[in-house]
Amino acid sequence: MSLLLICRADSEAAWANALAERLSDRPFHVWPDGPADPAEVTYIAAAKPPPGEIARYPNLKAVLSLWAGVDHITADPDFPGHLPIARMVEPGLTRGMREFVMAQVLAAHLKLPDYARQQRECLWRPEIRGTHGEEPLAADVTVGVLGLGVLGTDCARALAGLGFNVVGWARSPRTIEGVDVRTGAEALDGVLAASDILVNLLPRTAETEDILDADAFARMPAGAYLINVGRGEHLVEEDLIPALDQGRLAGATLDVFREEPLPSKHPFWGHPKITVTPHVASITRVRTGVDRLIGAMAAFDRGETPPNTFDPARGY
Ligand SMILES: NC(=O)c1ccc[n+]([C@@H]2O[C@H](COP(=O)([O-])OP(=O)(O)OC[C@H]3O[C@@H](n4cnc5c(N)ncnc54)[C@H](OP(=O)(O)O)[C@@H]3O)[C@@H](O)[C@H]2O)c1
Repeated sequence: MSLLLICRADSEAAWANALAERLSDRPFHVWPDGPADPAEVTYIAAAKPPPGEIARYPNLKAVLSLWAGVDHITADPDFPGHLPIARMVEPGLTRGMREFVMAQVLAAHLKLPDYARQQRECLWRPEIRGTHGEEPLAADVTVGVLGLGVLGTDCARALAGLGFNVVGWARSPRTIEGVDVRTGAEALDGVLAASDILVNLLPRTAETEDILDADAFARMPAGAYLINVGRGEHLVEEDLIPALDQGRLAGATLDVFREEPLPSKHPFWGHPKITVTPHVASITRVRTGVDRLIGAMAAFDRGETPPNTFDPARGY
């Protein structure tokens, strides 16, 4: 009945300390250490376990993802498909994403990446862009949010609170105050067409891969700005640079990539209209994330499925 933690070396001590404080009734091990008999392990907490590792433990009840997205777990060809996966949902991760997305949307709205570029060229060029000769305010700008799950809904609400017009896209209908919610594949073009700034917070699934492509960019208003905090596989990389170079898009903030770390020779690094961040939009905060691990294990022990468990039929 033990827990095996597989995490990055730089967060190992924090997780181990938090678990030691909170898990009095269950032994835990930090990979690559583990019990002599793999059959003793009933839960694995991991974000990107080495391929084949999870299949080594015959008595697992569930996997507890340390990340919101579980695509790095399900991508393992040896992953035992019957095992439930609890996604990471915790207030620190949600709050962190809100802060990152607000910062990027406000920066795009205020053209801060353009002024940073101008500074490098010693260029003093204030730009008036509004139709009435005035700089637009948030109320003049529409932000599209792809994905209205735990993170997308929180960001959409916060953006509406800042005064932006917000259009959100999900699979199923719901009401979110201040947000124009559109659903289904047929609604996507309308969301893209409305989005002066587009925030991608979709999970990676067969339906959402490659969704940010030349066709999507062509549907967005000329000079729109893209913020990709979902997954690298959502973006067709070779379509982005022409869209930026031709002025179809004004700029892009990219936090996630098909290959991470982004290779040093990748053209995104040096492109003047791209802001690269190293998959840091939001990370799980250990002190609040540990509650999720403990709560999910307790639910599985009782024979229940905790909320925010991966649904293989939906793919997220
Ligand atoms: N960059 C980072 O640091 C970072 C950090 C955390 C998470 N992420 C990414 O953010 C993603 C979202 O996390 P979350 O916790 O918000 O996920 P979530 O709660 O599962 O929400 C997913 C949302 O996407 C919608 N969706 C899924 N497939 C769709 C489709 N085909 N068409 C339209 N809408 C679709 C869902 O619609 P319904 O509501 O109708 O089901 C839901 O609103 C994660 O999967 C991960 O990839 C990135």
